[in-house]
Amino acid sequence: MHERILIVDFGSQYTQLIARRVREHQVFSEVVPPHKALASCQGVDLKGIILSGGPASAYAAGAPTLPVEILQAGVPILGICYGMQWICENLGGKVVPGKSREYGFTRLVVDGQSPLFEGVAADTVVWMSHGDHVEKLPAGFTNLAHSADCPEGAIGHAEAQIYALQFHPEVGHTQEGERMLENFLKKICACHGDWTPRDLAEELIERVREQVGEHGEIVLGLSGGVDSSVVGAICQRAVGKRCHAIFVDNGLLRAGERDLVDAAFRQHFELDLTTIDAEQRFLNKLAGVTDPETKRKVIGYEFVEIFREQAQRFQNANFLGQGTLYPDVIESVAAHGGPTAVIKSHHNVGGLPDDLEMELVEPLRLLFKDEVRELGRILGLPEAMVARQPFPGPGLAVRCVGECTPKRIQMLREADRVVREEFEAREEHLGVWQYFAVLTGAQSVGVMGDQRTYEEACAIRAVQSNDGMTADWVYPSRDCLQAISTRIINSAPGINRVVLDITSKPPGTIEWE
Ligand code: XMP
Repeated sequence: MHERILIVDFGSQYTQLIARRVREHQVFSEVVPPHKALASCQGVDLKGIILSGGPASAYAAGAPTLPVEILQAGVPILGICYGMQWICENLGGKVVPGKSREYGFTRLVVDGQSPLFEGVAADTVVWMSHGDHVEKLPAGFTNLAHSADCPEGAIGHAEAQIYALQFHPEVGHTQEGERMLENFLKKICACHGDWTPRDLAEELIERVREQVGEHGEIVLGLSGGVDSSVVGAICQRAVGKRCHAIFVDNGLLRAGERDLVDAAFRQHFELDLTTIDAEQRFLNKLAGVTDPETKRKVIGYEFVEIFREQAQRFQNANFLGQGTLYPDVIESVAAHGGPTAVIKSHHNVGGLPDDLEMELVEPLRLLFKDEVRELGRILGLPEAMVARQPFPGPGLAVRCVGECTPKRIQMLREADRVVREEFEAREEHLGVWQYFAVLTGAQSVGVMGDQRTYEEACAIRAVQSNDGMTADWVYPSRDCLQAISTRIINSAPGINRVVLDITSKPPGTIEWE
C-alpha cells in the first residue's frame, strides 16, 4: 500500500496544483470533497492531510466545512488559506475580514524555527490571495511567519503537528513554496516518496479498465498531439483491441502530421487505428465562417459527428476517449461551478453535445502537460511524439484569422512548416513551449519583382510557458527570423509580409483565436 496524502478540496482554483506538487515528490495524493474526507482516512497508509484554499469566508453561514474529528486523525495537517482559517475557526481561534485585501506577491518574514521552514530564507516572497485573516490564534498555536499586512502569515502547533499558511505554497509565484511543501511531506509527515510516475501510469490504465468493463469499447479521437497519443497508449494497454482509435484528417493538420501518427502507432502499438479523410467535409462546413468561437464549435461538432458515426461500426462502443488536460478544463468551464469566465471553448471540452450518449474516458483530466509527457515516455511512445509542441484540437483553423479557405490553409501550413524547420535546425525550439505561424487576415502592400503586391501578413508566434495558462513571448535569433521571413515569402505564395508577435498571455492568448 502506498503512502497517501489526503487533500480536502474547499473549492480553490489551485487544488489540483497542490495534488500535482505532492506528485512531484513521488507521494500519492487523493483529492476529496469535504464530506468524503473522514471516510477517506480509513484503511489507507495515511501520512498527512492538506486542507485547500477556497472562495468562502470561514465564519460565514453555509461556508464549506468538514467534521472536526479530522483534526484528530493522528497525522500532520497543513491548512492553506481558507484551510488555515477553517482550522482556526474550529479550534477556538477567530477569523475576521481584513482591513485590506492582500493579493499577489508579498514579502514574508519567517519568525523563529520550524520544520516547515527549514532551508527557507528568513525573508522570502510568497503569493497571497485573501481578504479575511486570523485575528486570534487557537490555544497552543504560535506565529511562524508574517507579512506587512498579515501578522499570521504562517502558524503552527508543533505538538499537535498542525500547520497552516495564509499564502499559497503550491503556486509557482511563491518562491520557496516547493521547499515548504517538501518539508511538510518529508520532514513533518515522514513520507519516503514511494509512488512513481510508473505507478501513476498503472493506476490510470487500471481505472480505464474498470470504467470500460469487460465488454465496453472505446472510440478514441487521436489527434497526433501528445495528449491524445498518451490516452491512446493508456487505452490500448487497458482494453487492447477494444480501443478503436480514429485519426481524422480534417484538412487542418500540420505538414507531415498524418504520416507521423501513422508510423508512431502502427510501429509502436498494436492499436486498431482508422484514418478518416474528412478534409472536404470540414472545409465545406467552415466555408464563410469567420467568428472564432463559431469556428471552434463547428469543428468540435464535426469531430463528434465522425466519432458517433464510427461508433456505429462497433457493437459496444459506448465510450469516447479524449486527451483532455486539466488546464483545458479550467479555461473552458467555470471551475467549481463558479463565475470563472470561459475564455475559449477548447474543442474537446466545450463542444460536446448534451445527447452524446457516450461516456467520456479522459484519463489525463487532472494532469498537466509535463506530467503527460513523462507518462508518454514511460508508456514507450517515441520521443519525437512525446516532445512535440502542443497543437490545438481545431488545428490550423484557430491560426487562420478569417475564413479557412483551402488556399489560405495551404499557405499557412507551408509557413508553419518553415517556422518549425528553422527553429529546429538551430535548436532554438528547445525549451520553447510553442512556435508556429499565424495567418493574420491583414493585407498589406508590398513590392516583388518590381510589381506591386497586395497580400497577406503572416505572424511568427513563439512562446515560453509551463502549462499553457500563462505565457511569455520568445525572441528568436535574428538569423532564425531572417531565414523564416525569406523562406515564407518565397515558398508561400499569397504572403508578402512577416511580423513577430510580441504579446504575452495575458493579455493575449497563445493561439490567435
Ligand atoms: P490559448 O490560446 O487558450 O492556448 O492561450 C493555451 C494552450 O492550449 C492549446 N489550445 C488547445 N488545445 N484544444 C486543445 O487541445 C483546443 O481547442 C485548444 N485551444 C488552444 C494552445 O495551443 C496552447 O498550448
